[in-house]
Amino acid sequence: MNKFASALCALGLGVAMAASVQAATSEEKVIERIKAVGSVCIEGDESCGGAVAAAAGGGARSGADVYTQKCAACHAIGVAGAPKYGSSEWTDRAAKGMETLLANAINGINAMPPRGTCADCSDEEIEGAVQHMLDSAE
Ligand code: HEC
Repeated sequence: MNKFASALCALGLGVAMAASVQAATSEEKVIERIKAVGSVCIEGDESCGGAVAAAAGGGARSGADVYTQKCAACHAIGVAGAPKYGSSEWTDRAAKGMETLLANAINGINAMPPRGTCADCSDEEIEGAVQHMLDSAE
């Protein structure tokens, strides 16, 4: 290899390295941007809490999670007469008892859609969400 060629070669390497560094940083940025709120927790990793591990592993979602993802659409502001999160409307509903509330949440009642549109929610997950809203009552 003559001097010119090796200089070119070094230059090429430099450019390639710069490009890959660039790629790595922008890739990291993308990962940073698209990562879920709350980081993923591998089951068995004690550093981030066992409850989170269950959620990440496809276990039961917490009442708060189900509420936020599915029920808040109507219950946060009281769409179509939905009892509002954090209001005394839930104190009134509580009088019906969990059994009735849960049955109505599962089967639907008036403008309340069956399972609150969470078709893949288990009965336990729906109950958790109902409890979460009951607990919010002032
Ligand atoms: C499309 C809007 C909408 C969504 C989404 C929704 N709800 Fe409702 N919900 C309502 C409305 C409207 C009512 C009031 C029904 C009535 O009593 O006339 C209601 C009432 C309820 C009640 C009280 C039932 C009773 O017997 O008094 C429960 C419990 C409930 N919702 C649970 C849930 C849960 C849990 C979710 C999420 C998994 C959810 N809802 C999602 C609209 C919604």
